[in-house]
Amino acid sequence: MYVNNKKKACEYIGIESFEYLMDAGTSQEELLSLIDRLNKDSAVSGILCQLPLPDHIDEQAVINAIDPKKDVDAFHPVNVGKIMTGNYDFVPCTPAGVMELIKESGIDIEAKECVVVGRSNIVGKPMAMLLLHKNGTVTVCHSKTADLAEKTRKADILVAAVGIPNFIKGDMIKPGAVVIDVGINRIAPKKLVGDVEFESAEPAAGAITPVPGGVGPMTIAMLMKNTLKAAVINHDREAE
Ligand code: GUN
Repeated sequence: MYVNNKKKACEYIGIESFEYLMDAGTSQEELLSLIDRLNKDSAVSGILCQLPLPDHIDEQAVINAIDPKKDVDAFHPVNVGKIMTGNYDFVPCTPAGVMELIKESGIDIEAKECVVVGRSNIVGKPMAMLLLHKNGTVTVCHSKTADLAEKTRKADILVAAVGIPNFIKGDMIKPGAVVIDVGINRIAPKKLVGDVEFESAEPAAGAITPVPGGVGPMTIAMLMKNTLKAAVINHDREAE
């Protein structure tokens, strides 16, 4: 589903995309050799390796192999480091999408209590950094957090990124809070739900994103933005 949506978005805006669908038994060496080839190909601006990978492949080694200037997911340690310092080219797509939703909704982050539930490298950690760069007061909660509801009830801006269906209930939300649901959980063949229980949360929240149709499409849009940026960066690099 993710990969198809990414391909469709590329087609829609005029980015040529190539899918390398590899067998689950592919060796790490083969995968690294493909990445090496794409790194060197001046016709390729951006590379992403859809995660997760099979157990026999070292995911971090694969991420490390992608040229940081083509790393449109912003997963490479160089790009992760840049996000920490606030001086970055690429922003991880999902947190970037959340920031765009907040901005376009006219919500000011400065001095707000921001609570991120989830500490993944893909969403929770970079999300906390981006909110911090906008002068939010950020708390990161996770599966070992004691009295989670007490923390979430303090949030003016609550970002749920735990990957557990309907985990955040209405009584865990401060009245009027901005609730952003990053979760995409398939609970039946045709039923997707978020990490927030929408029915109980919606009356409490001042603003809330739906699943599907909330953060998901924004993630794709941000991937397109990173890819365009990568094209400019790599074009300039070629010209040097
Ligand atoms: N798997 C789940 N989310 C993502 C993402 O944003 N990028 C990649 N490459 N894989 C993922």
